[in-house]
Amino acid sequence: MYVCICHGVTDSKIADTIDDGAHTMKELTAELKVGSQCGKCCQCTKKILNTKLMQIAEAQADVA
Ligand code: FES
Repeated sequence: MYVCICHGVTDSKIADTIDDGAHTMKELTAELKVGSQCGKCCQCTKKILNTKLMQIAEAQADVA
């Protein structure tokens, strides 16, 4: 699903970029340009980011 229409960025691309180490909105904007034009994708991108960070934290807790 396209999240950022201005730059053609999908939810899976955002998730992959988070997995690759971008853990802030600023880093996602630097990597993918999400939110850098009209800004309409910011809310959805932040939701994906928060969900992924929760999953990463839970996975780390399971290992510890
Ligand atoms: Fe992402 Fe416009 S939809 S900057």
